[in-house]
Amino acid sequence: MQLIIAKDYGEMCAKAARLFAAEITLKPDCLLGLATGSTPVGLYDALIGKFAEGELDFSQVRTVNLDEYAGLPGSHPQSYRYFMDHHLFDWVNIDKRNTYLPDGTAVDSEAECARYERQIEALGQVDIQLLGIGLNGHIGFNEPGDSFPAATHVTDLAPSTIRANARFFRSIDEVPTRALTMGIGTILKAKKIVLLTNGAAKAETLYQMMYGPVTPQLPASILQFHPDVVVFADEEAASVIRERTSADR
Ligand code: F6R
Repeated sequence: MQLIIAKDYGEMCAKAARLFAAEITLKPDCLLGLATGSTPVGLYDALIGKFAEGELDFSQVRTVNLDEYAGLPGSHPQSYRYFMDHHLFDWVNIDKRNTYLPDGTAVDSEAECARYERQIEALGQVDIQLLGIGLNGHIGFNEPGDSFPAATHVTDLAPSTIRANARFFRSIDEVPTRALTMGIGTILKAKKIVLLTNGAAKAETLYQMMYGPVTPQLPASILQFHPDVVVFADEEAASVIRERTSADR
């Protein structure tokens, strides 16, 4: 794993945006795996900025998102489809027919997960998979557990994830308790993985992910086994790594 430490959130997003911009430039029809949540918002803003300046063309870019809340239609302001439209897709020249997320409203969620897994496979290998990380070490919505789920599946959100995501809803009772998420196996199939994390609250989690044991109790630790992972962290998120290791890049 390569660790790139940025001085703050803005610099972290700017650096990561350069990597995504290079991919889109070199491979105009690249397949990008995308994430939602607070962390990638600045990266998406930076990509929108590059598009506005005429630097990037998204017309052939294809995207697959990590996850979607069960029960929320794309028109719901807290659905991940809505998030992606509002934070990226509506601002660039991407063809929305080339943007894929699991359907949170599918009556048979299990069947929808199987369909989504096949869909991703049909699109080909993900060129870059973007990830954030939960406080508990989740990636996508692969929550801590006894094993690493391989494929896209329906999952119960951990109570700590529900509490963390309540900030986006009017009350905690409105936070969906289930989600459809790519599995760990799905994520690991990507050619390259880019994980962004900022803020002191995630410093211990980031340290454990990179230097702790590989365990399903901290799902992101499995990334130690992927051959091409780049972690972008701000100074705060990297603070525990800095304290306990000689990493100073
Ligand atoms: C989002 C996702 C989650 C988030 C994680 C961190 O699609 O799959 O794993 O990346 O919960 O969320 P934030 O960035 O809001 O701290």
